Amino acid sequence: MQSREETISIRRGAEFGIDARGETREMNEKEDPKSIEPRSDTVSRRDLIKGVIVGGVAVSSASYLFRASTLLGQSALGMGERLVTIDVNGQLRRADVMRQETLAWTLRHKLGLTGTKLGCDRAECGSCTVLIDDVPHYACSVLTHTVRNRKVLTIEGLASPEGKLHPVQQGVIDEQGFQCAFCMPGFIMASVGFLKTNPNPTRSELAFGVSGNLCRCQDYDKILTALMRGAENMRRASNA
Ligand code: FES
Ligand code: FES
Repeated sequence: MQSREETISIRRGAEFGIDARGETREMNEKEDPKSIEPRSDTVSRRDLIKGVIVGGVAVSSASYLFRASTLLGQSALGMGERLVTIDVNGQLRRADVMRQETLAWTLRHKLGLTGTKLGCDRAECGSCTVLIDDVPHYACSVLTHTVRNRKVLTIEGLASPEGKLHPVQQGVIDEQGFQCAFCMPGFIMASVGFLKTNPNPTRSELAFGVSGNLCRCQDYDKILTALMRGAENMRRASNA
């Protein structure tokens, strides 16, 4: 079994195109020519970082504010946008995105899905967690153009079309979990993703499952109680 550090490391590596063996996605793509996207669509992590550095951006808790000017500045310099279609919450949504644009940015600022929160904007806090093909990902560290032909689920897409809350959302209401709740969408999405692989977790297993998420109010005990109730609600719903 992997240690918590190994799991987080692999998960974060995956966000940046690095697999469990430490190989970059570019290396793997060389092995499988069919997986190579047209060159004009690919942006390496180096390009992404370069874009941030060119904008003179220092690491900051408010880095997303600076990223706005960086992205706009790059657009003005002719980096260009292209129209992409992505499947978000079961709907095909079209947006003009820059090559270096993150999914979190597109969701919040192009598609109006502000339930996905931006905390650190650097794959540390998990507040931007969404599901991509049922697997939790940090949306701040996924480039939007890479999710074409994949299914993105955000907190807005969890409830049924009739407005019935997802069992995990209901668990939060039942237990009155969270304080300020800024971290809540990320925790819920991480939990929903984890419960798909382990629908009947122990408390410590679920804590491990959402260990990639941070709460600045440090309300972890109550959060875990709410998520455990959510898991119980899910099992009841599937047995009904
Ligand atoms: S905002 Fe994405 S991990 Fe913190
Ligand atoms: S409840 Fe405030 S950040 Fe988690």
